[in-house]
Amino acid sequence: MFKRKDLLGLQDLTAAEITVLLDTAVPMKDVITRPIKKVPTLRGRTVVNLFYENSTRTRSSFELAAKYLSADSINISSSSSSVTKGESLYDTARTLQALGADVIILRHPMAGAPHLVARAVQCAVINAGDGAHEHPTQALLDLFTVRERRGTISGLRVVIVGDILHSRVARSDIWGFTKLGAEVRVCGPPTLIPSGLEEAGVEVYYHMEEALAGADVIIMLRVQQERQRQGMFPGLREYARLYGLNRERLALAGKDALVMHPGPLNRGVEISADVADGRHSVIEEQVTNGVAVRMALLYLLAGGGAQHEADN
Ligand code: CP
Repeated sequence: MFKRKDLLGLQDLTAAEITVLLDTAVPMKDVITRPIKKVPTLRGRTVVNLFYENSTRTRSSFELAAKYLSADSINISSSSSSVTKGESLYDTARTLQALGADVIILRHPMAGAPHLVARAVQCAVINAGDGAHEHPTQALLDLFTVRERRGTISGLRVVIVGDILHSRVARSDIWGFTKLGAEVRVCGPPTLIPSGLEEAGVEVYYHMEEALAGADVIIMLRVQQERQRQGMFPGLREYARLYGLNRERLALAGKDALVMHPGPLNRGVEISADVADGRHSVIEEQVTNGVAVRMALLYLLAGGGAQHEADN
């Protein structure tokens, strides 16, 4: 049973709760592979996507997830809302609740913003990415994709490569994969690796060739090009030379290694085009599975699993 009001991060979840979410996504995946992708589960419920940052995958998959479950959904972006008139996040969230929102899905550049909103409203709040803190639904879809392909997470060697310091995807993936028993390695330039990871059971590498040895799963992170302007790595060409995933480096991993990327991709920088489109890549499966996982989450928070009163 998933007895939470909100999903704010994977740090707080137990392995059992993560497993419930992944198990619930299995029948949802069946729904989205049917010709008619519609079930009445959330009829009469209202889901609001409130995005203060751009998004392709997360916002559209939450919107589709809500529609496939027959919920009413609306999208609000900060640039076209009263945020431009100075309305606070607190007042915006309270207004959406007063309009009848059952679930608010929030992406915000500030770490902790979804936690603030979750305290301000009685409806469910889902973190769709908060600053460099967490992106829990990305990690859930990553876990789902690996489990679907491999049957398990436990015992797999998962290597996350890139800007670990600023990556909310890396943070949530580290929580998720370690909680489910994977061996997690991170690799990147020393300036982009936070301290203290070893204490969380993560192995730190600075050389791709060492990190990739025997990898079952390789998660490549997007290079955030603004970090180069801040002087945290020398240049894109140099980055690609040292930390880009190409065919030669992929050959160091396990023969059936899965190549993953949360998107959007910088082809030719963190990943070569032939690897992104090659037989090891499950990048498009990740996108599809994102819909199933988000349907499961909406169902558990706003439908069958909702237990708001019990938690408040
Ligand atoms: N993975 C991810 O969060 O992509 P979007 O920014 O397109 O939502």
